[in-house]
Amino acid sequence: MTEKQLKEILSEGKSLIEQRLKEYMSLIADENDPVKKAMEYSLMIGGKRLRPILTLQFCKACGVSEERAVPFACAVEMIHTYSLIHDDLPCMDNDDLRRGKPSCHIAFGEENALLAGDGLLNLAFETVSGRFGDISIPAENQIKAIGYLSSCSGIDGMIGGQTLDLMSENKSISLQQLIRIHNLKTGAMIRSACVLGAIVAGADKKTVECAEIYGNNIGLAFQIIDDILDITGDEKALGKPVGSDRENKKSTFPTLLGIKTSREYAQELTQSAKEALSAFENAEFLSSLADYLLHREK
Ligand code: IPE
Ligand code: IPE
Ligand code: MG
Ligand code: MG
Ligand code: MG
Repeated sequence: MTEKQLKEILSEGKSLIEQRLKEYMSLIADENDPVKKAMEYSLMIGGKRLRPILTLQFCKACGVSEERAVPFACAVEMIHTYSLIHDDLPCMDNDDLRRGKPSCHIAFGEENALLAGDGLLNLAFETVSGRFGDISIPAENQIKAIGYLSSCSGIDGMIGGQTLDLMSENKSISLQQLIRIHNLKTGAMIRSACVLGAIVAGADKKTVECAEIYGNNIGLAFQIIDDILDITGDEKALGKPVGSDRENKKSTFPTLLGIKTSREYAQELTQSAKEALSAFENAEFLSSLADYLLHREK
């Protein structure tokens, strides 16, 4: 697949997700509620929408229309956005810029940012439970998807990774410990995005396992590149501050292995991710995407 074709699919996915998110937010809108406004602000100001696009594309790779996966994809993006709002708070990474705009707590105050994050987390589970009336899969698969999403975002997933990330500031940790942190804080939600697409499509156990392998590998690679971009990236392109990791004295892939070896490691992971795609009928986009993410600048 050419880069032009890949970018077209990314942009179509982004539009589809943003349209539905906007619709959902209009249904809960209340001009007088600062937390609802903060939720909408962080959710709608941008972002690559990588995770929801993965959900749509895994559903499609399993031979089912991506429309069926849209509410699940939106829920993944809501949880991801909540994790960013909280990640930027002064008690966590203390970053003032996100998605090219003032971070939620800068724009709305810490108390509203905290509650907006909580609100988005809950809205995600309301969405996949049918609040907006657009779930069209068997209840058994719906419950499976909800359970998977909650465990990946929870204490044994993203929250667990964020806990270890904070506990490891100012400390030297081993590569193995760092891999564990990255797998949890970032890998788990990316894996969840992939697996949800397969579950929604009604895929069998073996296919779901292949989605897991792909998600785990590109998830870790994604955070390695994020660590590198925190050093070499451009604040304007990234829409978030560079140098945040150094300021917070975090161990990262580049601090442990150097930039070149970190990149090579991400390349190996990308290769493993692509190998897991043989279980799918048409995974050309997912294969090209894995390579594309290695060279991303934002
Ligand atoms: C940022 O995620 C947080 C990490 C897990 C590295 P993204 O780079 O996907 O951020 P957005 O969604 O595009 O803003
Ligand atoms: C955050 O990792 C992962 C999350 C669960 C939000 P980072 O702290 O490196 O993400 P950025 O660089 O702020 O986006
Ligand atoms: Mg962080
Ligand atoms: Mg951060
Ligand atoms: Mg980072």
